[in-house]
Amino acid sequence: MAQLFAPRADVILRAAIVAAAALVIVIPGALWAWARGPAATGQYQVYRQPIPFAHPLHVNALKIDCRYCHAGAERTSMAGLPPTKACVPCHWESLVQSALFAPVRDSLATGRPIPWRRVTRVPDFVFFDHSAHARAAVACQTCHGPVDLMPEVYQAAPLTMEWCVDCHREPERHLATIAVGSSGWRRSDIEGGAELAARYDVRRLTSCTICHR
Ligand code: HEC
Ligand code: HEC
Ligand code: HEC
Ligand code: HEC
Ligand code: HEC
Repeated sequence: MAQLFAPRADVILRAAIVAAAALVIVIPGALWAWARGPAATGQYQVYRQPIPFAHPLHVNALKIDCRYCHAGAERTSMAGLPPTKACVPCHWESLVQSALFAPVRDSLATGRPIPWRRVTRVPDFVFFDHSAHARAAVACQTCHGPVDLMPEVYQAAPLTMEWCVDCHREPERHLATIAVGSSGWRRSDIEGGAELAARYDVRRLTSCTICHR
């Protein structure tokens, strides 16, 4: 009997199976990686701000505590951006003259806040609370990166659910021995975590309703 299929058919069939399998694995895999990558999460992106405010100068050189400008971080869910009057005590002379400080003058004249561009954000269906983290000795820099070295603030962490839950499963690996709100932060600052977790009675909060209420 004559062969139904050409001898090459076998090769073609095998190639087709391999290609189909590759599609099934590669496309979802690529989407999965993309959704967690910087392009989708906004990680590392910097934005033009109304005034080129420099954290390194104010935080490192002048040693201003983070909480002077982000006062809510310790007491409320929001860290908050600084009220315009926080800039005035040190910048009164430049406020009167320089073009750089025009947004500060406008804000003082109109009573409207300086339109700082938000960098770090989680979706509305996620509940986040700064004060709970400050109380548990999670340093600002553990989540926001070395802000004190950033000429322009960028989002240092991916802010995906995995990122939050990874720490919530083992918080003792991430608690910092430096005071929350101080400028410096080194990896070695999170080495005494187990002891801190015991001292502050830090729980492992992984149930869905902690972050989705
Ligand atoms: C504790 C004092 C202090 C506070 C508070 C403060 N600054 Fe400054 N800032 C300084 C000093 C000192 C300098 C460096 C000297 C200078 O250029 O005036 C500086 C420099 C700057 C510069 C660069 C100025 C230039 O001429 O290049 C900008 C912009 C600036 N600050 C914005 C702000 C804003 C906005 C706020 C409020 C959110 C603020 N600062 C709060 C002390 C302060
Ligand atoms: C003198 C005031 C001042 C101090 C001190 C200060 N900041 Fe800021 N911070 C600002 C201003 C103004 C902005 C908004 C402009 C910008 O993004 O640069 C800001 C923005 C930020 C943002 C981005 C907010 C967002 O939208 O996601 C983070 C994170 C941040 N600061 C963390 C810190 C940390 C951590 C410290 C201490 C190590 C600190 N800041 C100290 C004034 C301050
Ligand atoms: C556990 C991680 C974590 C820690 C610790 C943390 N932040 Fe945040 N921060 C976030 C997240 C997530 C957001 C976005 C919140 C949102 O969208 O509501 C944010 C937002 C901000 C903002 C933007 C304004 C706002 O309130 O939403 C500022 C400023 C800020 N953080 C400063 C700080 C400072 C200063 C500290 C330390 C005292 C700190 N953060 C500690 C995760 C953290
Ligand atoms: C670096 C570690 C770390 C990261 C990252 C982190 N958390 Fe937390 N979170 C903690 C610790 C520690 C506590 C306090 C546990 C306790 O109170 O015993 C906490 C507490 C909370 C609470 C308060 C729960 C309550 O009812 O008291 C909420 C809400 C929360 N986290 C949401 C988030 C979200 C949302 C993210 C991601 C955007 C996040 N956390 C990222 C460590 C972290
Ligand atoms: C520690 C905080 C935290 C806990 C606990 C948590 N989530 Fe989330 N969840 C988040 C954050 C943050 C996002 C937003 C992620 C993003 O925008 O990429 C999210 C997003 C989601 C989404 C939207 C789809 C997605 O992946 O972006 C779903 C659905 C979800 N969570 C379900 C759950 C369920 C079910 C649980 C319990 C098993 C849970 N979450 C526990 C922080 C948390």
